[in-house]
Amino acid sequence: MALKLGDTAPEFTADTTHGELSFHEYIEGSWAILFSHPNDYTPVCTTELGAVGKFLPEFEKRGVKVIALSCNDVESHKGWIADIESYTPGAKVSYPIVADPTRELAVKFGMLDPDEIDGKGIPLTARAVYIFGPDKKLKLSILYPATTGRNFHEVLRVIDSLQLTANYSVATPVNWNQGDKCMVVPSLSNEAAKEKFPKGFETVEVPSGKSYIRLTPQPNVK
Ligand code: BEZ
Repeated sequence: MALKLGDTAPEFTADTTHGELSFHEYIEGSWAILFSHPNDYTPVCTTELGAVGKFLPEFEKRGVKVIALSCNDVESHKGWIADIESYTPGAKVSYPIVADPTRELAVKFGMLDPDEIDGKGIPLTARAVYIFGPDKKLKLSILYPATTGRNFHEVLRVIDSLQLTANYSVATPVNWNQGDKCMVVPSLSNEAAKEKFPKGFETVEVPSGKSYIRLTPQPNVK
């Protein structure tokens, strides 16, 4: 069964490149990202883990704990890290990689890609991204097939959006980027919005006459 938004992160204990680890203990009280991989020593995965290694300061800045998962054992992961760091200069894979050689966790999280089959006829693990809030609830999931590498600029962008919603009750419009205007969430009345947003908000006029498009400057930007 795939995880649904709002579900609590499944707890698991697994071998990782940082030793045995309890997922709940690892993410306790923090935002967290878990991202999965089909296999060690594969080209697309090598580029992705390197990109995340380079972006670690960006995840840290946002208070996000990072953890990867790939369907091989820890010895394989450790050997592979040298290739990843060599392919992406400046990358440090200092975050844990979970070993899931039996794909037990991939099944538990609903991460399998039925279109990509290994030599034994077993579906590969897809490229899943799960972002959990400090309450351990799933805030976002993205599932890519094994053949499409993820865009970690986009992952950072959605973390910024999720954290703005959690902290300031704003939503982010299409193609939003840092510093752009945000939108007052529909559940907030005009009265509540006036109190909540000292910088104010503008209501965009539309043919229906309804006042549902309300823009406000990004709250955490001076
Ligand atoms: C890759 O990482 O390059 C890859 C892995 C599994 C299937 C296809 C591509």
